Amino acid sequence: MDLADDRRSTGVREEEVRSKVKAIHHIDVRKENIFLEPSCNPLLHDVITTCFCCESASQSIKNVANLLKSGGYLCMFGVLEQNSYRVRNFQFPSVNVKTEDIQSTITEIGFEILELKTLFNDEEFTSNTLTDSKNIYALFAKKL
Ligand SMILES: C[S@@+](CC[C@H](N)C(=O)[O-])C[C@H]1O[C@@H](n2cnc3c(N)ncnc32)[C@H](O)[C@@H]1O
Repeated sequence: MDLADDRRSTGVREEEVRSKVKAIHHIDVRKENIFLEPSCNPLLHDVITTCFCCESASQSIKNVANLLKSGGYLCMFGVLEQNSYRVRNFQFPSVNVKTEDIQSTITEIGFEILELKTLFNDEEFTSNTLTDSKNIYALFAKKL
């Protein structure tokens, strides 16, 4: 389905998403076993997606990638060259990463990069008072 053409109400779409969520777990991606609940049995997954998360916790992607099956896919969106971001009055730190950092790290931890691109032209992307980021990247990679 083309999500941009989805004319269903937000209520219907919310219901659909809620029916598909199987579990919510507390995690800390800086830990080798990221799950904070001792009873949680980490399963291997076919696909893992992250959105605006990995730059919030440094050295984390390897721990997330450990939960992916060999041959599985990692789909990651994030911000480039962001030092911090603001939510209301709180300023949160961010790991300042460039496209080259994503490329080398993802390759080093055993992935083939299928696609890595920035979503905006540099001159098109304007920072605002919430973030000093320079662009947004999208990564699609396969675990070898
Ligand atoms: C910028 S928010 C993005 C939230 C959401 N994915 C979105 O796109 O709106 C960054 C998220 O990273 C989470 N985070 C920060 N440090 C973390 C850590 N060590 N382990 C797991 N999540 C962490 C924060 O709780 C926050 O929800």
